[in-house]
Amino acid sequence: MRAAVLTSYDTPPIYGEYPDPAATGEHDIVVEVLAAGLHHLTRAKANGSHYSSTGTLPLVPGVDAVVRDATGRLRYAALDDTAFGTFAERTVIDVRRSVLLPEGIDPVRIAAAMNPGMSSWVALRRRIAFQEGQRVLILGATGSAGRMAIQIAKRFGAARIIAAGRDITRRKSLPGLGADQVISFDEVHAAADVDVVLDFVWGAPAAEAMLPILTARTDRSIPLAWIQIGSIAGETAPIPSAALRAARLHILGSGIGSVSPRDFIAELPELAAAVTEGALDVQARAVPLAQITQAWTDRSGERLVFVP
Ligand SMILES: NC(=O)c1ccc[n+]([C@@H]2O[C@H](COP(=O)([O-])OP(=O)(O)OC[C@H]3O[C@@H](n4cnc5c(N)ncnc54)[C@H](OP(=O)(O)O)[C@@H]3O)[C@@H](O)[C@H]2O)c1
Repeated sequence: MRAAVLTSYDTPPIYGEYPDPAATGEHDIVVEVLAAGLHHLTRAKANGSHYSSTGTLPLVPGVDAVVRDATGRLRYAALDDTAFGTFAERTVIDVRRSVLLPEGIDPVRIAAAMNPGMSSWVALRRRIAFQEGQRVLILGATGSAGRMAIQIAKRFGAARIIAAGRDITRRKSLPGLGADQVISFDEVHAAADVDVVLDFVWGAPAAEAMLPILTARTDRSIPLAWIQIGSIAGETAPIPSAALRAARLHILGSGIGSVSPRDFIAELPELAAAVTEGALDVQARAVPLAQITQAWTDRSGERLVFVP
């Protein structure tokens, strides 16, 4: 069968022939791949830098996909750590890590949305007890995950959503998604009185945002949950010690490990339903899998979805 094959962590995958997958585990099934998104997690696993990378080469990248099983049913599937990913005509899924989808859905939209959407969905549902009426700041709101976070916080009943992003042009579309206020990173003090920060950037921008936010709070004894979800601006952040003393700051993370696979899977059906109903705006660009080598270095900001 045809697949994208990665033989080195330093070079992009190449489209070519690869042996067909085989189901080995009790819950494994071989499926036809319809659409698979190129997420940051996919890239990080493919360059060996992600904490869940297996170190096995060659590998077929791809961490999730919309697939069709042997009985003809459509599913969204998220793979476990595996060297046999979804950037192929066929792959193997653990059926317990999949959710059935209705016929007639757009596989590209689902494949684009589930990974970035799940990041804030799971953070708000499984890492904190998010309450209707709470106020949310999103750091990195211009990206795929940040745009979804605005819409998901709204759906979960946030009273106020403040979206912080870098790119001026991309910021312009955020009110249309539900952001009550859109700011630059230099203006984060305007978000002092939020209850939750969904942080997709980490690194220096997050560390530098902490004191301006915390010291401007009307009541510093009200808890602030700072949920570290992405680290696009830096793996480490020099957090000022005063940040932990000056206000009731709780820093926690959300991702594979801090949320169990069972809890992730439990949230998939509702998110998939929200996307299929068209309740969430999704930006995606379908690309033939045969073009993976050229597309791998694309930095347009659109979520690319490979179609075998
Ligand atoms: N833990 C999880 O469950 C989970 C799930 C999905 C994603 N993530 C992570 O979340 C992060 C964002 O993912 P995504 O899918 O939204 O990526 P994306 O669509 O490529 O967007 C990247 C975002 O990061 C911003 N950014 C990049 N470098 C920055 C910097 N130096 N300072 C400030 N902002 C910067 C971009 O801002 P501009 O466009 O304004 O320049 C944009 O908003 C990634 O680290 C990803 O791995 C985590």
